[in-house]
Amino acid sequence: MNTRETLKVNKAGHLEIGGADCVELAKQFGTPLYVYDEKHIRDMMSVYRDAIDEEYDGRGLVLYASKAFSCKAMYAIARQERIGADVVSGGELYTALQAGFPAEKIYMHGNNKLPNEIGEALDAKIGCIVLDSFAEAELVEREAAARGMVQNVLIRINPGVEAHTHEFVQTATPDSKFGFSVANGAAEEMTVCVLGKSHLRLRGFHSHIGSQIFEKDSFVLAVQKNLAFAKQMKEKYGFVCEELNMGGGFGIWYAEGDAKIPVSGYRAYLSALIGTVKTECARLGLKLPYILLEPGRSIVGEAGITLYTVGAVKEIPGLRKYVAVDGGMFDNPRYCLYRSRYTALLANRADEAPTELVSLAGKCCESGDLIGVDMPLPKAERGDIVAVLSTGAYNYSMASNYNRNLIPPAVLVKDGRAEYIVRPQTYEDLVRGDALPDSLK
Ligand SMILES: Cc1ncc(COP(=O)(O)O)c(C=O)c1O
Repeated sequence: MNTRETLKVNKAGHLEIGGADCVELAKQFGTPLYVYDEKHIRDMMSVYRDAIDEEYDGRGLVLYASKAFSCKAMYAIARQERIGADVVSGGELYTALQAGFPAEKIYMHGNNKLPNEIGEALDAKIGCIVLDSFAEAELVEREAAARGMVQNVLIRINPGVEAHTHEFVQTATPDSKFGFSVANGAAEEMTVCVLGKSHLRLRGFHSHIGSQIFEKDSFVLAVQKNLAFAKQMKEKYGFVCEELNMGGGFGIWYAEGDAKIPVSGYRAYLSALIGTVKTECARLGLKLPYILLEPGRSIVGEAGITLYTVGAVKEIPGLRKYVAVDGGMFDNPRYCLYRSRYTALLANRADEAPTELVSLAGKCCESGDLIGVDMPLPKAERGDIVAVLSTGAYNYSMASNYNRNLIPPAVLVKDGRAEYIVRPQTYEDLVRGDALPDSLK
């Protein structure tokens, strides 16, 4: 089991998160239930923020990559922790603004931002738009001109760094829908294009090499390549890169074999990046840029767990045992998408050692609706509470109402007390948007 700060087994043999007994949480709020430990989230945010404050004189900003888990409470925590946020849709922007998040600390991403999303971003006066296509540069220019404003922008460049992670979450390889390739000249062409616009203020460059990456070297290489590109743009066009956004992507512990990095250990990633920025800028004769970082998974991933109740248990002799729970791909589609690995345990018998390997199945009408295969568990019975660990990132945010299942609520735990941060859906919510034309009544 993960022995991280977030989790422990209490005297009753129950799993505890943030001082709250998971069996009690399941009783009080029902299952399936996403549970988040507030302290862990805050500690992660402050580790990154403090590194910039202490090692780079505060000349930078951590942006919480809110795609990992977007709800009002997350933006409120980020606001209190004095960090920024990255949003990738009008919906995330709306949620952030509804939570009172300062617009100037919001960066907007997306490879195909819609015209209405760009309009909403400009109207809200967000800090920066990260441009990802020529058409988008035209659109932002036109919309900013119509509003009589000049918008700060970055260009998402693709430095061609291959990170060791699942191909679906690698984003800076030559064949990617994201960014402008440095190698094929597109990044330079885009730079020239943006510099020619009177309502865009080019601040610098952004890259994000992928997600669930553990090697510091990949990040360091990306920074080196980005600064080399910045130097080229300075020499050729006199452009001074004022901002360097290094993206997110730091890996977290999901299961046996993954590195267990303590909260404080994440500082080393940022220290390595800051060190590289300093040495490379000195070597290349560049002004030290304002730096940005966009961690998502590492801030909320291990802070969250999902609680389920065991229903049907089915053994197929000689093949496998299915332990079915009251959730599934509608609250966690990551096994279906990436064959992601997870660790599960019985929250009501958390002190028992695993005795068998089971497939944890969901309740959707898909054979592939699994949360994991060959997961070590004690013999599970109907009514047991299963906790799946490290489900804080890209679970709720990827949840759906498939099969008209209800997306589970989320609670935030602090000092043993839990409160809703996402309320339970109801059947009424499911039919709210449905319409019956007269001919069908
Ligand atoms: C542009 C950008 N920034 C930041 C992130 C966050 O990455 P992670 O959650 O792995 O830290 C992503 C994830 O896809 C991204 O696309």
